[in-house]
Amino acid sequence: MKVLIVGGGGREHAIATSVAKSKRADKIYCAPGNAGIAQVAECVPIGAMEFDKLVSFAKEHQIDLVIVGMDDPLVGGLVDEMERAGIRTFGPRKNAAILEGSKAFSKDLMKKYHIPTAAYETFDDPQKAIDYLEKEAKFPIVLKADGLALGKGVLICENLEDAKAGVKEIMEDKKFGSAGNQMVIEEFMTGRELSVLSFVDGKTIKIMSSAQDHKRAKDGDQGLNTGGMGNFSPSPFYTAEVDEFCKKYIYQATVDAMAAEGREFKGVIFFGLMLTKDGPKVLEYNARFGDPEAQVVLPRMKNDILDVMEACIDGTLDQIDLTFEDNAAVCVVLASDGYPVSYEKGFVISGLEAFDGKEDYYCFHAGTKFDAQGNIVTNGGRVLGVTATGATLKEARAKAYEATGWVSFDNKYMRHDIGKAIDEAN
Ligand code: AMP
Ligand code: GLY
Repeated sequence: MKVLIVGGGGREHAIATSVAKSKRADKIYCAPGNAGIAQVAECVPIGAMEFDKLVSFAKEHQIDLVIVGMDDPLVGGLVDEMERAGIRTFGPRKNAAILEGSKAFSKDLMKKYHIPTAAYETFDDPQKAIDYLEKEAKFPIVLKADGLALGKGVLICENLEDAKAGVKEIMEDKKFGSAGNQMVIEEFMTGRELSVLSFVDGKTIKIMSSAQDHKRAKDGDQGLNTGGMGNFSPSPFYTAEVDEFCKKYIYQATVDAMAAEGREFKGVIFFGLMLTKDGPKVLEYNARFGDPEAQVVLPRMKNDILDVMEACIDGTLDQIDLTFEDNAAVCVVLASDGYPVSYEKGFVISGLEAFDGKEDYYCFHAGTKFDAQGNIVTNGGRVLGVTATGATLKEARAKAYEATGWVSFDNKYMRHDIGKAIDEAN
């Protein structure tokens, strides 16, 4: 098979690595890819939102399967465009990717189908939002821009003053652009957060092994929210009891709700869950693999990823026995100091060859590129996702941290407590 992966971050590197393991993959392209992905795929300089160019490329190169890794092209309808051109594509169509693309849509869906989530109201008029905050709100309260905002469109406000400023930021100043045309105001929940990824074929859903992310920039969950500073899989907090609850009230219910709305979902649904004292609740849905969740979940998957993706497209996922290694994985993100606010790019990265030929170690590139001399240099806030598998979470964690020492670049920054929760659980 000839495969084209759309995206260029750590998640797409993890997807490309899994595809490269498949005996069925003859040729892998990635658009636009990055310097790490270039080791397993041919990178083509087409951006993920350049739909016409991507479709032309897929037709010209007789691509058998396109895999869309990122949220923006999914929400923008790349899958629909590819299908119109007769190209098989893994990922939800535009009318289903709205599950991630609009928080107002996803909240209304959960309410209508009784899927557990935080209580909320939606607003398209800032004055009405402020009236609501003045009359009915309990603090802290959570404000969410409706649309995609690079994971940054969520504000947790401690008091009325902050919340009013938040409404202004989102709906009037349009800090997150058109994502702020609508807004969700929801109840603040507390509890541990888990990520559960799943494959879906429109009717059947198969759950992947759980993961746990570390979103704050600094040790001890201090500092600003980021795209993710590291994570691990499985989560010891994803117990049999949690699994049973989610299977009963959340997973299949979501797939059935989308089908009932005429928005058949095929692809990956990422359930962002919070374990509250009243049981697990959905914080958010994403319509794609998580980043860096893919980096810890996919290396543990035993199946051929192309078999599973094709079953999602063909509606035959019920015939797939999705299985994971009985081991664990930990990913530590090496970032550029200053991320997520401001940071420099273009520093030469050395030591990457230490990963060559080492079975349990992966160095997924998030933000890298080749400079004019052919060196691999930093090209983003999150630079590398150093990942290791081990028999236990503790072992995987020790190995991942050991491997963070193999690579160096100026302004290298990482958290030192990724997976610390593992110790609390034991
Ligand atoms: P989201 O993009 O919806 O996942 O929100 C980003 C982050 O904001 C989540 O990972 C949580 O840490 C936090 N968050 C979102 N919604 C709530 C909520 N209702 N209560 C408490 N924290 C929340
Ligand atoms: N790691 C969270 C996300 O991919 O949205």
